[in-house]
Amino acid sequence: MEVAVIGAGYVGLTTAACLASHENSVTCIDTDGARVAALNAGRMPIYEPGLDVVIEKAAKAGRLRFTTDVATNVRSADIVFLAVGTPSAADGGVDLSQIEAAAASIGPHLKSRAVVVIKSTVPPGTAQRVSAILQTRASADGVTVVSNPEFLREGSALKDCQHPDRIVIGSFDDHGAAMMRKLYSPFGARNVPFVMTTPANAELIKYAANAFLAMKIGFINDIADLCEKIGGDVGDVARGIGLDARIGTAFLQAGPGYGGSCFPKDTRGLAHAGKAHGAPQPLVELVIERNENRMRKIARRVLDALRIKDSESTARRQARVAIFGLAFKPETDDMRDAPSLTVISMLQKEGVTVSAHDPHAMANARALLDDVELCTCPYEAAKDADAIVLLTEWSSFRALDIGRLAGTMRGQSFFDYRNAFKPNEILAHGLDYFGVGRPAQVHAPAE
Ligand code: UDX
Ligand code: UDX
Repeated sequence: MEVAVIGAGYVGLTTAACLASHENSVTCIDTDGARVAALNAGRMPIYEPGLDVVIEKAAKAGRLRFTTDVATNVRSADIVFLAVGTPSAADGGVDLSQIEAAAASIGPHLKSRAVVVIKSTVPPGTAQRVSAILQTRASADGVTVVSNPEFLREGSALKDCQHPDRIVIGSFDDHGAAMMRKLYSPFGARNVPFVMTTPANAELIKYAANAFLAMKIGFINDIADLCEKIGGDVGDVARGIGLDARIGTAFLQAGPGYGGSCFPKDTRGLAHAGKAHGAPQPLVELVIERNENRMRKIARRVLDALRIKDSESTARRQARVAIFGLAFKPETDDMRDAPSLTVISMLQKEGVTVSAHDPHAMANARALLDDVELCTCPYEAAKDADAIVLLTEWSSFRALDIGRLAGTMRGQSFFDYRNAFKPNEILAHGLDYFGVGRPAQVHAPAE
């Protein structure tokens, strides 16, 4: 099939690459000329494991192109995906201006019976809104709108796209549903379940899925707090409850709170939609509040530990903290709503000097962080630090030489906010260990 994808972000690029690898002819269109130029020169604008290889292969085979030209390329498309950004609006709702702009821009160029697919996460009712825009802008007959939410996790987006748990298709009519079934027939052949429903249901499925996963994380984070008080271990508790098939082991990893481009904005979007429709979502509202508090609480815990260790009143002004991991999760360079942003800003507000290292997010960090010493390796970041705070569980951190880190530090606090290490691996090198949902283990002060 001839497919156009509007938006060459994490979702648009992955969708385009995945569809091109299934023998479709795909054009990925973005308004950002620099991004398109980079892609045409074989450079990836984002870090997503494996995506570069699939894109290169599909481009070489002539099945994937990148352009800024909407008019020429939408004209021949049977299916046009909208995969543009849907950030939070100032009132907590969703800013749909990119979706509306994209719909308006494709409208006049759509061919007869073209299917416009909303891939971006949008509130219930958006497909209806896009239909209304197309009714006034589209000159062709029989254009229809479908909601087909993505469930991609950054870092494993390609795998999630190629091996989905399910494909959700919300269509107003049989034509839209049939075209989507045809497009996804290779997945149907592999027995991936299809959920055929209305656009509003499809839109809500995406919000409800993300909110439910965020709620699981919020729940286990609260249990982690209790574990710390009772001398428990949240890892054992999570495994113990997760093996109940009704609960499931996934998304029960306690940590610094969820971040990223989806959970924070989608939980806010669902809470806002609930209020707007007179069906508030208090559970989700609490999950949002608890998550935001959690990131602040982490910074407070670090500050408290630094103050306890030093008797001088100026200690906090002179304190240095090394942050290990800036991206909101491993295997991505994305720092949108990352816990690191909140933690660093709170430490800096208290006068703490912050150094940091992330294996892939340094370019984004440079654009987002002021006055943070961005270091080329963890050892450099740890030099003269009073505390290390690990916020992202990159596997390369697991291979660190803890003795070497301890030797270069000034203080001895190691905050492992992803439980990446066993306490003994840290304690053995003279450092104090502060994990999540496990009791802190601190060396006795020297006489
Ligand atoms: C986006 C949404 O934010 C998310 O909610 C949804 O589930 C999937 O799409 P992402 O791919 O991460 O996620 O967005 P982003 O990285 O912001 O990329 C969007 C791209 O669209 C940008 O490259 C932007 O230049 C482009 N764009 C935006 C257009 O090409 N045309 C427009 O009119 C607006
Ligand atoms: C999420 C959804 O998983 C995906 O289906 C949707 O389409 C987009 O949003 P993403 O945000 O890319 O994907 O990553 P995810 O792996 O879900 O992690 C989100 C956040 O939750 C990260 O900050 C991660 O560290 C955190 N998390 C995840 C936990 O703290 N504990 C867990 O057990 C799982």
